[in-house]
Amino acid sequence: MDAVKTLKIACPELKISTEPAVLESHGQDWTRFRSPAPAAIVFPESAGQVCRLVEAASDAGIPLVPSGGRTGLSGGAVAARGEVVVSFDRMRKVLDFNPVDRTVTVEAGVVTATVQELARQNGLYYPVSFASEGSSQVGGNVATNAGGIRVLKYGLTRDRVAGLKVVTGRGELLDLNRGLVKNASGYDLRHLFIASEGTLGLIVEATLKLVDPPLPSKVLLLGIDSMDSLMNVFDALRTSLELSAFEFFTDRALHHVCEANGLASPFETPCPLYVISEFDCPDQRVEEMAMECFERCAEQGWLLDGVISQSDRQIEELWRYREGISESISHFPPYKNDLSVKVSDVPGFLERMDRLMKEICPDFEVVWYGHIGDGNLHMNILKPASLSLAEFESRSHEISEKTYALTEETGGSISAEHGIGILKQPWLARTRSQAEIAFMQRIKSVFDPAGIFNPGKLLP
Ligand code: MLT
Ligand code: ZN
Repeated sequence: MDAVKTLKIACPELKISTEPAVLESHGQDWTRFRSPAPAAIVFPESAGQVCRLVEAASDAGIPLVPSGGRTGLSGGAVAARGEVVVSFDRMRKVLDFNPVDRTVTVEAGVVTATVQELARQNGLYYPVSFASEGSSQVGGNVATNAGGIRVLKYGLTRDRVAGLKVVTGRGELLDLNRGLVKNASGYDLRHLFIASEGTLGLIVEATLKLVDPPLPSKVLLLGIDSMDSLMNVFDALRTSLELSAFEFFTDRALHHVCEANGLASPFETPCPLYVISEFDCPDQRVEEMAMECFERCAEQGWLLDGVISQSDRQIEELWRYREGISESISHFPPYKNDLSVKVSDVPGFLERMDRLMKEICPDFEVVWYGHIGDGNLHMNILKPASLSLAEFESRSHEISEKTYALTEETGGSISAEHGIGILKQPWLARTRSQAEIAFMQRIKSVFDPAGIFNPGKLLP
């Protein structure tokens, strides 16, 4: 029996689509290196429906690909081999807001920005923030342990999860941690599901921790000549100020974001590197401290130019230089690398990477930006118009071999926040030991004995 019939019998009320346009839209994420080819897209409306569909899929061996806002960048939500996609678009209920516990409980399909807005309306703050927050969904954020621009101060999605409900490969519903702050009762299975990329089970509900609203803030945009200066500036700023973001981008990144958005360059003289940093600025005294720090950095010769925001509107305008980069290069498309090293290793690693790129791919444009304050560097290799997508991917794989070897030597990770998905899967062993991978595979077989969840993603 085919997959659609099997699922219809097991769960007659389940919405199922085999419309070509829906297969196309829901069979992929933001990666452009695999063509979508799902058998069907299912739209459960409750945890109960998810349990029933998983039980049936497990009995019949139907592979399932969980899908949220489809903003992923590693192909974790791509269904290219006739899988059934489980979309959470119809599970968008906010189930609870608890002002005492300062938590919000939502279904997996709730959009990140909805959680942020709900927190704000209740005088609180949900600090996980990134460019795709207007369409990414909570389930996907948890499944990839999404990071973004505020990790420096507030941590990752993992740090915000107080509880999870998940459906395992046997169709059981597990209620993990139940929103508790303290819970010393054994293995914390919640954390296994965070960053599991849909390979262990389907996340149907999450309880997220909110924090105090942020203090008024200001933003510095700085032009810098070298990585050594950038690290000195980082040290100086975080010693004097409470930073909530410290991001960098190169002149190439600035070129693309300005061109795509009709923005003027922020400074008259182009600079090799740019930093955007946001800091809490509740009063005049802190603003003066920021200015003193800025002047000290300039006197030391670490700054080529700089500007400090004078209004909330200017904060938004300055952030456009950083937040618009990803979108501005998406049409090439870029081959994305989402590298992570210890902050102390950043300058040495970038210097070696720069040399490596000049040696192995001088013909490619490489655009760097990222969350340098937490050691997360996004290296985007842009496809030249002269190469087909397949030729470009194959050249990019040769580059990945060397990039990930260097990342491994530096003790870093080949994915900081985008996940391993399908695109980075061949290199998992560059960042996790064989023993770790073997444990991960054994854990998967416990939660997903029939091997139906997101096959081919994350694990070999
Ligand atoms: C970002 O930091 O802009 C996002 O992770 C997206 C990207 O890497 O392009
Ligand atoms: Zn990022």
